[in-house]
Amino acid sequence: MATIRLGDVAPDFTADSSMGMINLYDYLGDGWGILFSHPADFTPVCTTELGTAAKFKGEFDKRNVKMLALSVDGVASHGEWIKDINETQHTTVNFPIIADDDKKVSTLYDMIHPNANDSLTVRSVYIIAPDKTVKLIITYPASTGRNFHELLRVIDSLQLTAYHKVATPANWENGDRVVISPSINTEDAKKIFTKGVEEIKPYLRMTPQPNL
Ligand code: BEZ
Repeated sequence: MATIRLGDVAPDFTADSSMGMINLYDYLGDGWGILFSHPADFTPVCTTELGTAAKFKGEFDKRNVKMLALSVDGVASHGEWIKDINETQHTTVNFPIIADDDKKVSTLYDMIHPNANDSLTVRSVYIIAPDKTVKLIITYPASTGRNFHELLRVIDSLQLTAYHKVATPANWENGDRVVISPSINTEDAKKIFTKGVEEIKPYLRMTPQPNL
């Protein structure tokens, strides 16, 4: 297992899941992907996370992001747990959960951090771009459930900055002004960003979000 870093190609794998065998690259096709791990089935925080993720699926779909969860239990256990998630979170789990009882995928993606827990995965998030490179890695401890609004916010930033020469400032939300990439000088920036350029400092130039 090698450490995966931003910009690396996401390792491909084939694994069983709550929706049958899945090959990562086939599943993602030419879209974006989010792969997120859960410490174990029948645990409380994970139950709320998967229910929330199911309710957010429409938002991920709008952004062309395929969802793929993982937990280190088998398919039969996932099936029983999904019934509980649907019942308690008032939703229907509508994306696959990888059955990683042999820990093949969690080892490949370095999702087990032995000094935190030697058998359960931490809460890892990998966002994978259409070219299969890893664009974002976030790691939470088992005791902290993820914020799915934040995951969508980051995806909006990743998708915007992939196609425009801009970056997103602190606490940016979709629709806010953005920062012009330092690689563009202000004269060129004024030609590219026709909605306007505000030069606060030579290195700090703002423009309205270009893709709206
Ligand atoms: C949970 O998902 O609730 C959880 C899992 C492992 C440790 C602590 C909490």
